[in-house]
Amino acid sequence: MQIFSTISETKAFLEQQKAEGKQIGFVPTMGALHEGHLTLMRQAKQENDLLVVSIFVNPIQFNNQEDLKKYPRDQKKDEALLETVDCDVLFAPSVEEMYPEPATRKYGFGPLEEVMEGAFRPGHFNGVAVVVHKLFDIVEPHRAYFGEKDFQQLAIIKKLVEREHIPVEIIGCPIVREPDGLAMSSRNIRLAPEYRKEAPFIYQTLQEAKRRREHLCAGPLRQMIINLFEAHEHFKLEYFDIVDDKELQPIQNWNNKKGTVACVAGWLGGVRLIDNIRII
Ligand code: PAF
Repeated sequence: MQIFSTISETKAFLEQQKAEGKQIGFVPTMGALHEGHLTLMRQAKQENDLLVVSIFVNPIQFNNQEDLKKYPRDQKKDEALLETVDCDVLFAPSVEEMYPEPATRKYGFGPLEEVMEGAFRPGHFNGVAVVVHKLFDIVEPHRAYFGEKDFQQLAIIKKLVEREHIPVEIIGCPIVREPDGLAMSSRNIRLAPEYRKEAPFIYQTLQEAKRRREHLCAGPLRQMIINLFEAHEHFKLEYFDIVDDKELQPIQNWNNKKGTVACVAGWLGGVRLIDNIRII
């Protein structure tokens, strides 16, 4: 595996590979790799000639400085995991390399960034768009892979690519779960054992929402599930919404609506967790 920390080295190496006709599959990450990331990487490796991974904890997508400080970082461990999926190139730049000057671009994704994560984490998606756009400019991948756990991020990135005419295929990959149902996340290792034990309750409640959809309209179903989340002793709900899967706007009734997703975010033992489930 080639490991680069500068943009110029990365670009030079990848330009040579592309000149030889190699197809590039890219998985951008913030490190603290887990099985969810490795699943994306295995798919990228299978569908392309070269697997490129980036590790960069992007400060401008954190609206909470404490969250940024506590974000788990262990590049050596990550490198060992990358070897197991036969990664070809790791790009792991410093903050100075990525942002020699403060990033000022404002994208504006309209209603898509005004709901759910966008409403609770002001500036978050602009920070994601800035870094992903920059990474795409550096790597110029043929395909890029993102997990559906960050469902709204995936929608924002699809919009970014469409709007900016970036020639990359965006591939969304299903959520990878622990055997007890907890969606895999780099934040899970910060859950103290007593909270980790309770965490499967999030997915169980999402499954309950899916089961109940036969009997309840979207509005009352949403309220019922909110009540379940709020009744939990330790889970602090931020939002639970039932939305369409393109613009992520809340829906009130089913109207035979295909493409409906239920999304949740909240805090458990001081750790912010998100998850979602496809309802229709
Ligand atoms: O999903 C993540 O890990 C990050 O938001 C991403 C896409 C790597 C951008 O920093």
